[in-house]
Amino acid sequence: MTINASLRDYLRTRRSVGIGFLKDPGPTPEALQEILLMGCRVPDHGKFVPWRLVIISGDARQRAGERLAEIARRNRPDLDEAGLELERRQFLPAPLTIGVIFSPKPNPKAPEIEQMLSAGAVCFNLCNAAFAMGFAASWVTRWFAFDAAAQQMLGARGGERFVGFVHIGTPTMVPEDRDRPVLETIVSTWEG
Ligand SMILES: Cc1cc2nc3c(=O)[nH]c(=O)nc-3n(C[C@H](O)[C@H](O)[C@H](O)COP(=O)(O)O)c2cc1C
Repeated sequence: MTINASLRDYLRTRRSVGIGFLKDPGPTPEALQEILLMGCRVPDHGKFVPWRLVIISGDARQRAGERLAEIARRNRPDLDEAGLELERRQFLPAPLTIGVIFSPKPNPKAPEIEQMLSAGAVCFNLCNAAFAMGFAASWVTRWFAFDAAAQQMLGARGGERFVGFVHIGTPTMVPEDRDRPVLETIVSTWEG
């Protein structure tokens, strides 16, 4: 057995970097292409490709934030200017965000949960691909992944929903590790 040491070391230490610490430079178009190709290389029972990706970068980040603020104001008329400004800035910290849309293809061969898991795998694999290309990333959802109007505004169509937003940029800090589960508490051996 030949150990792939760089992959092992990556998997043993990988850690998301918070959105506020993802800065310019973001991926070049060529690097983004690589990230997308690697990110979409996920298990997908039945090859239904039950996901789509939406890229939010450059000036579109500000426009998306303004549209989010409008929806937030409709949802919560009491939202003050500071709250609205937070919404306007949702996509500003990182130079580039990839929205992952779960796009189910109803078929008995692959129940919906399997298709959604495949979409989740895309989210995580996009993070890994970003790290492989020298960037850092964070997979988050936030309220607009659960709000119908916001999801539609960001590109989801009927029957689809966002399962994550993968923010990508150059890390400006090295985060401390977070607590990881103690294996003994989550792993057991089936003995019949
Ligand atoms: C589906 C999903 C949604 C998440 N949404 C948020 C979120 O909205 N806000 C947040 O601060 N973290 C969110 N997180 C957690 C961040 O991704 C967090 O940084 C991550 O769990 C760090 O773990 P890691 O260092 O092992 O990658 C979410 C995680 C997952 C899996």
